Amino acid sequence: MNEPIIKPIEAIIAETRKEIQPFVFKRLEARTPRKAGEKIARTVTVTSGKGGVGKTSLVANMAICLAQAGQRVIILDADLGLANIDVVFGIRPRYSLMDVINGDMKLDEVMVQGPHGIQIIAGGSGVSELADIENEKAQRLFNQLRFLEDKADFLLIDTGAGISGSVISFCQAADQIVVITTSEPTALADAYGIIKIISNRRPESHVSVLVNRVDNDEEGIQVHARLARVAGEFLNFTVHYLGNLPQDRNMHIAVRQQTPLMLFSPMSPAATGLRRIVSQSFYETPENLPDSGGEGFFTRLAKLFKGGSAQQ
Ligand SMILES: Nc1ncnc2c1ncn2[C@@H]1O[C@H](COP(=O)(O)OP(=O)(O)O)[C@@H](O)[C@H]1O
Ligand SMILES: [Mg+2]
Repeated sequence: MNEPIIKPIEAIIAETRKEIQPFVFKRLEARTPRKAGEKIARTVTVTSGKGGVGKTSLVANMAICLAQAGQRVIILDADLGLANIDVVFGIRPRYSLMDVINGDMKLDEVMVQGPHGIQIIAGGSGVSELADIENEKAQRLFNQLRFLEDKADFLLIDTGAGISGSVISFCQAADQIVVITTSEPTALADAYGIIKIISNRRPESHVSVLVNRVDNDEEGIQVHARLARVAGEFLNFTVHYLGNLPQDRNMHIAVRQQTPLMLFSPMSPAATGLRRIVSQSFYETPENLPDSGGEGFFTRLAKLFKGGSAQQ
């Protein structure tokens, strides 16, 4: 396993704990992690259509929030074009998913440990599309990834921008999909575009929208209402509301410091908002998640690739 290059992150964590203790820790710690082998990790794929709307920031900070609640979290950076989850964590992994795909490394050799025991699998650039990888190599990769599902409560997947075959497959195989958007018309159009494809591919998919960088709650509610109305009318598809996150300048500072906002500035508006969302929507499993027949995410993904539906 790579040794992360960690600044005083353990110190930051200790401080964070102290700061948010009176607010959330009692409640968070009341939740016991799932016992190994009890059930397969809940997979949440975060996607957007448009780039730069906040997917990677969301995945990183959500992971911290869940890990602080005692959940075991694995992040898979599936953005092979512009993989950068490691940058957000201030970690420089020497190896990536590409080394596993090429058969040079084992998966546990490329996993990097982040704060609070979060396991991170860096994407690594080199191919633009997972779908471009020969099926044999892809299957070998999925076989290794499958073992992870027993070891985690949550598997969070950060996808690339755009509507590529593999992004759709990562959505199609997930238990839950979070579509993140801002209120900008281009972001909204792309969010709708990806919802449309998801609803076509797997009508029982559980999709919720998170509206990022809003000025107020009303803005988030309205953006969701518009998306939900169009999806209901034209696709006969339900789009849930995850919530909204405010525009927060601390986010930029945190990115520059290469420390996730949740640790860098835990009481900032966006960190506080995200904690609320996670405690409302992720501590309990929603009842209306699609039935996966007991199959894990990577088993489903492997089938999609084998069946060729990952290649568009
Ligand atoms: N709520 C927010 N307030 C302010 N800036 C944000 C917010 N969310 C994300 N950003 C900024 O937007 C930029 C893109 O975010 P990122 O998570 O990398 O997007 P993506 O992964 O979708 O490309 C980053 O510089 C990040 O700091
Ligand atoms: Mg990103």
